[in-house]
Amino acid sequence: MKVAPSLLSCDFAKMGEEIMMIDKAGADLIHLDVMDGHFVPNITIGPAIIKAVRPYTDLPFDVHLMIDYPLDYIDAFADAGADIITFHLESMSDPCMTIDKIKSRGIKAGVVIKPNTPAQAVYPYLDKVYMVLVMTVEPGFGGQSFMEDMMPKVSAIKHEAEQRGLDVLIEADGGISDKTVLSAAKAGVDIVVSGTGVFKAEDPSKAIEFLKNSDK
Ligand code: DX5
Ligand code: ZN
Repeated sequence: MKVAPSLLSCDFAKMGEEIMMIDKAGADLIHLDVMDGHFVPNITIGPAIIKAVRPYTDLPFDVHLMIDYPLDYIDAFADAGADIITFHLESMSDPCMTIDKIKSRGIKAGVVIKPNTPAQAVYPYLDKVYMVLVMTVEPGFGGQSFMEDMMPKVSAIKHEAEQRGLDVLIEADGGISDKTVLSAAKAGVDIVVSGTGVFKAEDPSKAIEFLKNSDK
């Protein structure tokens, strides 16, 4: 299992140091939650902050766009140093155009679905993306409870990709900690995002290690 700590739960006044801390603690990716106050009822960080903290690690930046018009901002996040960009299929931008734009910048593309969006929504894009992100909470805030009932969706997407011989990674995001990660692992999740589960843990490196070994 790969682990992508979400900076949403870090100390925003020390973001650079927090990134160095989780890099040393064994993180595989850095998950950055971008919210515009329209697509979700919260506002977080944008390209300027991402660019400012980019030099603090060599780990890939996994940028999760929770914004109404992702296509309009791909260049900005590419310039800021994103390695993976995921955007919501519930957003206003055309999915194929957005995927093509992300790839044209040499960045890995992924699609995200909210809890009420069915697995089938991602099927038309499975042969075009590097990753599918399945939300296991309603997007907008950290610290919510894991929705166990999203796990059949993970298995269905995994199964569909395997049937079609496609190599697509499945990422799960929301409410993942030592208490919930095992069911994500069982369902076939490849990458877990964890905000409070890592940053609010007594020992972040132990928390990351536990998540990493959840599929062993
Ligand atoms: C929610 C964000 C998540 C969030 C996860 O909209 O996409 O990445 O930070 O936080 P936890 O792990 O605390 O649920
Ligand atoms: Zn996220």
